[in-house]
Amino acid sequence: MDLIIRDAQLRHTEGTRDIGVSDGRIVQIANRIPRKGQREIDAQGRLTTPTFIDPHLHLDKALISEVVRPNLSGTLDEAIEIIWEKKKQYTIEDIVKRASRVLHWGIGYGTTIFRTNVDVDTIGKLVPVEALLEVKKRFAGICRLQIVAFPQEGILKNPGTEELLRQAMKIGADVVGGMPFNERTMADSQRHIDICFEIAKEFGADIDMHVDETDDPSARTLELLAAKTIQEGYQGRVTAVHTCALAAYDDVYAAKVIGLVKEAGLNMITNPATNLMLQGRMDTEPRRRGITRVKELLAAGINVAYGQDCLKDTFYPTFGQADPLEVGLITAHAAQMSLPEEIETLFDMATVNGARILRMEDYGIEEGRTANLNIIDTTTVQEAFRTQADRRHVIRRGEVIAETETRTKLHIDA
Ligand code: FE2
Repeated sequence: MDLIIRDAQLRHTEGTRDIGVSDGRIVQIANRIPRKGQREIDAQGRLTTPTFIDPHLHLDKALISEVVRPNLSGTLDEAIEIIWEKKKQYTIEDIVKRASRVLHWGIGYGTTIFRTNVDVDTIGKLVPVEALLEVKKRFAGICRLQIVAFPQEGILKNPGTEELLRQAMKIGADVVGGMPFNERTMADSQRHIDICFEIAKEFGADIDMHVDETDDPSARTLELLAAKTIQEGYQGRVTAVHTCALAAYDDVYAAKVIGLVKEAGLNMITNPATNLMLQGRMDTEPRRRGITRVKELLAAGINVAYGQDCLKDTFYPTFGQADPLEVGLITAHAAQMSLPEEIETLFDMATVNGARILRMEDYGIEEGRTANLNIIDTTTVQEAFRTQADRRHVIRRGEVIAETETRTKLHIDA
C-alpha cells in the first residue's frame, strides 16, 4: 500500500481504525492493517474526515478590497457599485493571482473541492471565467474546481449577458448561475429564471443561483425558482444560495416556501459571514440576523451547506480565510446551533452536504473511494470547531499536500 494512516478516529465510529491507500484510493479500513505501507502516518487517535467542500466562493472578486475604495454604507448595493470600477480593469493575470492565493489558504485548511461563482456581464465580459479556467488548469490534480457562470448584474437589466452566459458555458463553465432578484420587475425575475433553465438544458448543466439576497420581505424569487424546478423536473440539480429574505417572511408564507423548496429538491447554501455583515444594515434594533432559516430548512429534511462566499472583497471587506471551521463556527452562532447533534450537522454542512450539491458519488471515507482526507488535530467535531483545530495533514488522492502544526509555549508560573 502507498499509504497507511494508523489509529484514525472516524466520525460515528467506536475506537480507531487504520486506513490503507493504494493508487489514490482507500483500499482497506480495518482495526489494524498488519502489513507495512510505503508511507505511514500515525494519526494518534486524531479525527480523520473526508476533505472539506466549499460550495460557494467568489474567487474572481476575492481580495479586491486590498485595492479599491471602502464600502462606506456596508450595503450590497454599494458593494456592487464599487466593483463596477474594478471590473473594467480586470486582467486574467490579476484574477489568477488573487484566486490562487485564496485557493492556497483553502487547501491548507483542508478544502480540496470548491464551487466558485464567477461574474459574467457586459462590464468584465468573459475575462473572469477565462481566468478561473486558467486557475482550474493550474490546480488540476490539487483540487477540484467547479465554475458557475454568474450574471451578477442581472440578465434583462444587462442586455448582452444572456449571450455571454452561453459563451461562458461553451468555453468551459460547469454550472449556470443566476440572480433573479437583481432585475427591475417580478416579470423580469421570472424571465431571468426561465433563461437560466433554457441555457442549463442546452448544456445539460446544473443550476446555482443567488436568490433573494435581501432583507426585503416582498422578495419572491425563491418561490419562483422552486416552482420552475418542479415544472422542469430538475429536482436535485438546482441550488439556491443566500435566500436571506426567507428569514424576513412571516411564518405562514415561510412555511409555504419551505414546502416548495422541499418538493423541488433544492439544495440550499447559507453564507453567514457575508450576510451577517451585509444584511439588516438599515434596521434599527432589534436587527435581523440576515441569514436564511437554516434550522427550519434542516428540520424539513432539506440539504443545507455553508460557504465562505466573499473574502476581502467589497461585500465582506475585512475578514475571511477560506477556512470551513471558521465559517462553521460563525454559522453555529448565526443559526444558534449548539446541541451535540446540531454540531454534527454543522460538520456535515461542510462535507457530505456539499458533496450532495455537487452530486459526487466518489466522496467519503469508504473502501473504493478516492482518498481525499483531513487529519484534524482533535478527536471530536465539536472540539474541531471550538479550537479551530489544525489540519495536521491534508491528503489529496493519497498524497499529503499540506501540513500544519501550531504550537504555543507558555512562559508563566501560575
Ligand atoms: Fe454569493
